[in-house]
Amino acid sequence: MYDLLVVGSGLFGSVVAFEARRRGKRVLVVDKRDHLGGNCFTQRIEGIDVHRYGAHIFRTSDRAIWDYLRQFCEFNHFVNSPVANYKGELYNMPFNMNTFNQLWGVVTPAEARARIEAQRVPCASPRNLEEHVLSLVGRDVYEKLVRGYTEKQWGRPCTELPPSVMRRIPLRFTYDNNYFNDPYQGIPMEGYAVVMQRMLEGCELRLSTDYLAHRSELDALADAVVYTGAIDGFYGYDLGPLEYRSLRFEHETLDVDNYQGVAVMNFNDADTPYTRIIEHKHFAFGTQPVTVVSREYPAGWQPGDDPYYPINDRRNAALYARYRERADAQSRVRFGGRLGEYRYYDMQDTVKSALAKYEEWFGAESDAGDRGG
Ligand code: FDA
Repeated sequence: MYDLLVVGSGLFGSVVAFEARRRGKRVLVVDKRDHLGGNCFTQRIEGIDVHRYGAHIFRTSDRAIWDYLRQFCEFNHFVNSPVANYKGELYNMPFNMNTFNQLWGVVTPAEARARIEAQRVPCASPRNLEEHVLSLVGRDVYEKLVRGYTEKQWGRPCTELPPSVMRRIPLRFTYDNNYFNDPYQGIPMEGYAVVMQRMLEGCELRLSTDYLAHRSELDALADAVVYTGAIDGFYGYDLGPLEYRSLRFEHETLDVDNYQGVAVMNFNDADTPYTRIIEHKHFAFGTQPVTVVSREYPAGWQPGDDPYYPINDRRNAALYARYRERADAQSRVRFGGRLGEYRYYDMQDTVKSALAKYEEWFGAESDAGDRGG
């Protein structure tokens, strides 16, 4: 018999499992995939940690979260500086003085600001993403760096997307290609899979096990359940499925030591069918004689496909609220993580949420457990 069954060995489930083990609980973790780690999983191929489900760069401004994860790994000094490729023209990201220099040849921040100001199409209340972006940055940045990429990502023209898709457009008037502003950033030196392995030490782990297919048998093994799978799936989609955008990854090992010279290259034109190529070795300054690249294709989603990005529109928000109401009405199963809460969570927010939820759900009994041993 276990004190806790954790469904899903992603970051949320792994933090919850670690916190329970730390307090002396007996924990069973099941995952329907054949590996642990959820979407953060890295697989070692030719000595290279391959981010199987898209680039995962850890960053935070919260020292406590950084230190928490450093119990399980050492981070390297990787800094995310992606490059945008528009029909063979290369631009630094995020939009900064290097980008403006590449676009227009301007050299000073004043020249860049004047260029943007001259192009902006002011609009007091933009009705769609196109109007919104044109009003903030003007035509060149929109056409070359925003439109094609965003339309591929969401499968819809920018004129049919809400401004909220890109509420803020970070413009930097310094020569700074560091994508993130956070002071703490990096990639676990031994890969994310090792981080999760360490978090789950002492737990029983059953992989390739779909909780929903073995629910009564698994429920009978534990006093409480933390479920990090899809909330609508838990209820058999009986109110209808929540919608997502999906992704398809094409991984390839190439017999060259350096394919594109950067970890993340975005393809911002509408004609290239993928949005990004990731060259994994550059996350870790790898010197292997070969390289592994992954092309990332945005895709529509149907029940059964891998869900990646929740579609936060009114219909889905209302549907989620109905599933949530049911979930809140029961206390034996607790729902958490990006699928259980139908929201996009960065890794730092996933860790924060898992720690807070653990306290909320089990805090009192844990304290008693801590005291009693
Ligand atoms: P996650 O999806 O990782 O784990 C859920 C687990 O539950 C999975 O292992 C799944 O197999 C399992 N499961 C589901 N149903 C089940 C069932 N019925 N039975 C058994 N097991 C079941 N964040 C960041 O900070 N920096 C970054 O660079 C990125 N990059 C990034 C790229 C892409 C493409 C995406 C989609 C997301 C990111 N993220 C990110 C976000 C990051 O992936 C996210 O914060 C965590 O993966 C969330 O962890 P969870 O445990 O909530 O979900």
